[in-house]
Amino acid sequence: MARIRYGIVGTGGMGTGHARTMQRIEECVLAAVCDIVPEVAEAVGEEFNVPYCTDYHELIDRPDVDAVVVATPHYFHPEISIYAMERGKPVISEKPIAVTVSAADAMVEAARRTGTPFAVMYQSRTEPVWRAAHRLVKEGRLGEIYRTMLVYADFRSQAYYDSAGWRATWDGEGGGVMINQAPHSLDRFTWLGGLPCKVRAYTATKNHRIEVEDVAAAMLEYPNGAVGYLYCSTTEAPGTDILELSGERGKLQVIGKTLRFWELPQGVKAFSDTSPEMWAHPPAVEVNVEIEPCESGHIAILRNMARHILYGEELVAPGVEGLNTVELINATILSGHTGEEVSIPVDRARYDAFLAQLRATSTFRKRSGPDLRITDTVHH
Ligand SMILES: NC(=O)c1ccc[n+]([C@@H]2O[C@H](COP(=O)([O-])OP(=O)(O)OC[C@H]3O[C@@H](n4cnc5c(N)ncnc54)[C@H](O)[C@@H]3O)[C@@H](O)[C@H]2O)c1
Repeated sequence: MARIRYGIVGTGGMGTGHARTMQRIEECVLAAVCDIVPEVAEAVGEEFNVPYCTDYHELIDRPDVDAVVVATPHYFHPEISIYAMERGKPVISEKPIAVTVSAADAMVEAARRTGTPFAVMYQSRTEPVWRAAHRLVKEGRLGEIYRTMLVYADFRSQAYYDSAGWRATWDGEGGGVMINQAPHSLDRFTWLGGLPCKVRAYTATKNHRIEVEDVAAAMLEYPNGAVGYLYCSTTEAPGTDILELSGERGKLQVIGKTLRFWELPQGVKAFSDTSPEMWAHPPAVEVNVEIEPCESGHIAILRNMARHILYGEELVAPGVEGLNTVELINATILSGHTGEEVSIPVDRARYDAFLAQLRATSTFRKRSGPDLRITDTVHH
């Protein structure tokens, strides 16, 4: 069988995890690794018995590297991904694809201009429950959507935030829970419910000694007049993960890994308009949705890109769709800081200027002690 030879840029926790995962995929092989820290590049290169380097240009230019996985901190995703795409090397960027909408635009533009395959590591799209939920929306089973809700309340310890200098700093990471922990939930939320056009948010740093937000809440408005609500935090235990979409013809709820779906054969508004009964409710029938087991997680995205290159398999998480989460992240952070309603698409120049100000006073790099690089085995 033909095999795609992957190079990995950034061999910290996640990059090393991907290197391990690749050993289990028939359609690909790990060809080379790169990390800006020489000892890290060397250790991982030796562990997997592949060539290593410290300069991503060198890795991407290698003739024995067919495709690239970018697993550095987020600020570097655009620069490295664009360099690869411009050389015709397919890219999987870690999430989020970028810290700002302007940088995400540049990636989307590079993918369109060069025609190079581009994916984002939004692996939770591959989970059976989310594939089933997405199918319901795509088939129009909800009808017009009137309301959305996302609650992603998770937990991170101070030790987690202290584990590396870039984490939870404006200059090293560019945001808090919205940019690092919530993106998978935000991706599913926009993948299923679409992108709002107006955001009024509240953000705060509640329980951690960090400079970015560990709590964010926002009221959302959609182009069709639908309304929504989101809440994301790293301050709660046990965690809560709820997504709800309510439409004219159906209501969908995912709590953890459990999907429930109610069909409204007569439609909510249609029923309201026509029912002569003062206290009547539209009939809602709970439908058992079949959840087909399938491969999921990082392995599914790594395999999907290899199969896309080899056999034209459709990408599960196209990189250009990664722009949506960045829009929602930027809008929430900007609105939370200014107290103003922010429109999507986010004003690119305004967000760049806003972030530049926060970066100027960031504590990134002022921290002492070595960074830890430990693969996240809990949050997939
Ligand atoms: N998809 C997921 O489930 C998932 C889970 C965890 C992290 N992530 C993402 O993966 C990325 C990395 O996170 P992590 O936890 O592995 O961080 P980490 O700090 O453990 O690893 C990052 C590595 O990148 C290296 N690096 C930094 N700049 C570089 C550059 N310019 N060129 C080459 N190497 C460079 C660092 O030395 C470090 O070894 C983040 O964007 C994060 O959001 C995704």
